[in-house]
Amino acid sequence: MPIVTLRELLDHAAEHDYAIPAFNVNNMEQIQAILEAANAVSAPVILQASRGARSYAGDTVLAALIRSTSNMYPNVPLCMHQDHGNSVATCVSAIRHGFTSVMMDGTLQADGKTLGDYDYNTSVTRETVKIAHMVGASVEGEIGHLGSLETGQGEAEDGHGFEGTLTRDDLLTKPDEAASFVRDTGVDALAIAIGTSHGAYKFSRKPDGETLAIAQLEKIRGRLPDTHFVLHGASSVPESLQDIVTSNGGELRPAFGVPVEEIEACIRLGVRKVNIDTDLRLAMTGAIRRVFTKTPEEFDPRKYLGEARKAMASLCRERFERFGAAGHARGITCLSMDEMARRYTAKTADA
Ligand code: G3H
Ligand code: 13P
Ligand code: ZN
Repeated sequence: MPIVTLRELLDHAAEHDYAIPAFNVNNMEQIQAILEAANAVSAPVILQASRGARSYAGDTVLAALIRSTSNMYPNVPLCMHQDHGNSVATCVSAIRHGFTSVMMDGTLQADGKTLGDYDYNTSVTRETVKIAHMVGASVEGEIGHLGSLETGQGEAEDGHGFEGTLTRDDLLTKPDEAASFVRDTGVDALAIAIGTSHGAYKFSRKPDGETLAIAQLEKIRGRLPDTHFVLHGASSVPESLQDIVTSNGGELRPAFGVPVEEIEACIRLGVRKVNIDTDLRLAMTGAIRRVFTKTPEEFDPRKYLGEARKAMASLCRERFERFGAAGHARGITCLSMDEMARRYTAKTADA
């Protein structure tokens, strides 16, 4: 199965009312675990790499790992996506390395810290769409600012993100602004801010309608009934995974993520791409810690990385099933990037 664009996957997901998990990857075991799980349940999948992941693994290695692992699973349609591209140049370099989709995150300026205003965001996203569509790649844009509705803190993780206090109004995606952003940029998918944030510490307790504003998503959906929405910061941070980490020497503060049933509610309101990184990190770390606790004499990486791979595969499998993606791999028609470029160009000419 060729590596496909985000557009093809999300159009299919919208047609059949399900969502596709977008898992962040940095290394071989993560890629293998995700694809093994996708194959086991016959689900399409999105593998995404942040800028940090690209520089950690190296573009050439990461792209080759994804492509070669994908070759082993010819029945799994896979999209290779740049997560949180900070500039047009980052998005273009991802495409040059074989990514079929990019996120231009213009909610922040290129330094990854300073807020980007509407005009800045629209201008860099529109430019990215113009270039990406010419070569058949898809684009995700974002409007609103991820961060906690409890504390008003913009979120910064690993040096990426606005550090400071934002109003509830700033934090939530505004329906009117979302509608004009989609119209002004031509993005294929839109990331929205409704109170989720990256990392393990999203909420101080199980979220409710005040802290996770699903009602806001409903309003946005009212303005954009045909847009594919993306939910960032969508790890559920399961207690069971936290327990494995903490009972094997790890330290975590009280942590609450987005419960899977809330993600299911978002899927019913048009979320088609669900971003998950933290849960994989927890699954991997917990499994490795457990091996070290049980067998402190162990030093063969295959022993603990093998356990980590199993734990991640089991998490992925559960997410494919709960998001309704299982069983949909075979229904997806895969087009070449050239064909996608032709379609995008024809759409622009018609507009
Ligand atoms: O966007 C956030 C993801 O969790 C990626 O994190 O930049 O540490 O790779 P990262
Ligand atoms: P989590 O930290 O909730 O896994 O979110 C990941 C994400 O949104 C990547 O873009
Ligand atoms: Zn994100």
